[in-house]
Amino acid sequence: MSLADATSLPFHLRGAFAPVLEERTDFELEVTGELPRELAGTYVRNGPNPRRDSPSWFAGEGMLHAVHLEAGRAACYKNRWIQGPYAPNTHVVAYADRLLALVESRRPVEVTRELETIGVFDFDGAVARSMTAHPKLCPHTGELLFFSYGATPPLLTYYRADASGRVVHTAELDVGVATFMHDFAVTRNYAVFYVLPVLLGDFRSPVPIRWADDVPARIAVVPREGRNADVRWFDVAPCTISHTVNAFEDGDTIVLDAVRAPRVMQPHALHRFRLDLQSGLASESEVCPRFLDFPRVAPGVVGARQRYAYVTELLDFTRDGGFTSTRAHRYDFETHALVTHDFGQAAMPGECVVVPRTERGAEDDAWALLFVHQRDGSATKLVILDARRFDAPPVAEIHLRGRVPFGLHGDWLPKKALRESADRE
Ligand SMILES: [Fe+2]
Repeated sequence: MSLADATSLPFHLRGAFAPVLEERTDFELEVTGELPRELAGTYVRNGPNPRRDSPSWFAGEGMLHAVHLEAGRAACYKNRWIQGPYAPNTHVVAYADRLLALVESRRPVEVTRELETIGVFDFDGAVARSMTAHPKLCPHTGELLFFSYGATPPLLTYYRADASGRVVHTAELDVGVATFMHDFAVTRNYAVFYVLPVLLGDFRSPVPIRWADDVPARIAVVPREGRNADVRWFDVAPCTISHTVNAFEDGDTIVLDAVRAPRVMQPHALHRFRLDLQSGLASESEVCPRFLDFPRVAPGVVGARQRYAYVTELLDFTRDGGFTSTRAHRYDFETHALVTHDFGQAAMPGECVVVPRTERGAEDDAWALLFVHQRDGSATKLVILDARRFDAPPVAEIHLRGRVPFGLHGDWLPKKALRESADRE
């Protein structure tokens, strides 16, 4: 970051990250290009919206932003604070006829499609403490696989919930050390956990995690129906994993693709780990050296071999933990080709959410939806790209009347995915 850019404000209060104060509801948004009529539903994204005195971006309270698409129109944009003593700020996931806002340190908060807070959702009391912000929805069974972790025992609890929202399996896993665990992975038969030399630090500091030289880097593999005694451990080189791309089984080997860095606050690159269940040995290789994060795959390939990942490229971290995004890419694991969408020097693209065009189509028969923010915080648009022609001009761009702060993760709610809250009882 150049001195010319320096201001007295930390990164999370200025530019594209600057919070918004008002809740808006805007109808009939301006569209450039042509919105596909069959793309009907709601794109929704979570992110921290820190107040002035917030010590860090990650401590900011969650605000949801939603854009409702219908019959080739951008019918409505809406943003709402999540209500309650601590508003989850990391992800928002549609599951079992519910929309759940998530942060890894707390239990989910359920909201309506209209973004009104319903309250804590704890799976009928089955989830007592917290839930990862990165659960995995199995496209084959409709199950939601997730975990809870914390600084005090039980350090890691693995959960499997059925398609109706009921927890059907719980296993406390003895990982020995309370590490920071932001994400995990699943395959058709296994869950995969990262027990890495990164510990939770002071949540009031700009970067609330710290490196621990004396903690070995290990990956734990447990059968989906497994318990602590079934865990297989794999030693890997010291590293930190920010986000999972995907994982799948290749015979007796679990292949794990993730964005990995050698230390905290260093650029993440796309890595492939191979965990051999026969020999108990792990190998790994860098598959793309660029500084990438926010990986997403098509929802239908979660836990199965994926060909494509959609990633956002970042620039080096600033000293206070800030960063800038530059471009979005589609990475092809078969050909190693990177297809780039460049939004221009003034733009900061967020995470791509992959929306299949049809229920059982090809993996890349899909749209990629993402917020693209002006770096100076002046404007935001929702951009729709054709996954097959990722570098082509956008299919459509929706120009929001208000701005949206750069944020974290989101999801797509097909038109009929949720009952209205009034229909629930
Ligand atoms: Fe995340």
